[in-house]
Amino acid sequence: MNARIIVVTSGKGGVGKTTVTANISVALAKEGYSVVAIDADIGLRNLDVVMGLENRIVYNLVDVVEGSCRLEQALVRDKRVDNLYLLPAAQTRTKDAVSPEQMVELCEALRDSYDFVLIDSPAGIEGGFKNAAVAADEALVVATPEVSSVRDADRIIGLLESEGKKSISLIVNRYRSSMVKKGNMLDVTDVSEILAVKLLGVVPEDEAVVVSTNKGEPLSMGYSSPAAKAFRDICHRILGKDIPLKYPDENEGKGFWEGIKSLFRL
Ligand SMILES: Nc1ncnc2c1ncn2[C@@H]1O[C@H](COP(=O)(O)OP(=O)(O)OP(=O)(O)O)[C@@H](O)[C@H]1O
Ligand SMILES: [Mg+2]
Repeated sequence: MNARIIVVTSGKGGVGKTTVTANISVALAKEGYSVVAIDADIGLRNLDVVMGLENRIVYNLVDVVEGSCRLEQALVRDKRVDNLYLLPAAQTRTKDAVSPEQMVELCEALRDSYDFVLIDSPAGIEGGFKNAAVAADEALVVATPEVSSVRDADRIIGLLESEGKKSISLIVNRYRSSMVKKGNMLDVTDVSEILAVKLLGVVPEDEAVVVSTNKGEPLSMGYSSPAAKAFRDICHRILGKDIPLKYPDENEGKGFWEGIKSLFRL
């Protein structure tokens, strides 16, 4: 195998990197690919909770690079989806516990045995981001349609380009078509024109994201809400399928039955 190593990053905090990493990882695994999701947010780990795997962590990324355990021992297997693994971050260490060289070595060790490695980056442009991005072949930049988020995404794209990353694409998250229609939110075309990278998908604002995060069950496990559909489309585009871009309506499926249905698995 020769894994595609993809970093999910943003610059600005709280825009949805961890949510995107969890959902795309699950969606790819459900398509039959073997996936390792790495939490590179050392000291502020979150991906374990969003994926619902926090109670099964024994070792973490820092243990691996320090040689306290083997890489395979630190991988937490998701029992709900075949071939999905989490490499958790350390909670009680700082970002400088790992060097870029160690991160490259670790990712290259995974490359031979898995189809995809997704790396959840911490916010910011400092060492934590650099560690998360250093080993990646591809980058998914997450931005919300807000000026500050777009500006930070622009900065991150510049840094990724200067690091020689060739494949950089954009995910616009928390899109609200009603606000765009009223002229109160940046349109996706504005965002993608400013950032001038390939637009991989648009994820609407969706309460089901919050519900699923609190349950530790990413929407891609099999839910039908608008954001779940957007994540599935993004997964298919990553796999090279030609899925037309949609600009989702966050009120789609807000009827009573649709609302009930979206809280259950398909
Ligand atoms: N499409 C969405 N609709 C509604 N809520 C969302 C959506 N995407 C993310 N959120 C919520 O936004 C919050 C931040 O998301 P998340 O933790 O994924 O961001 P992050 O970029 O990883 O943050 P950090 O920079 O702190 O690591 C979470 O509470 C999440 O549930
Ligand atoms: Mg995060």
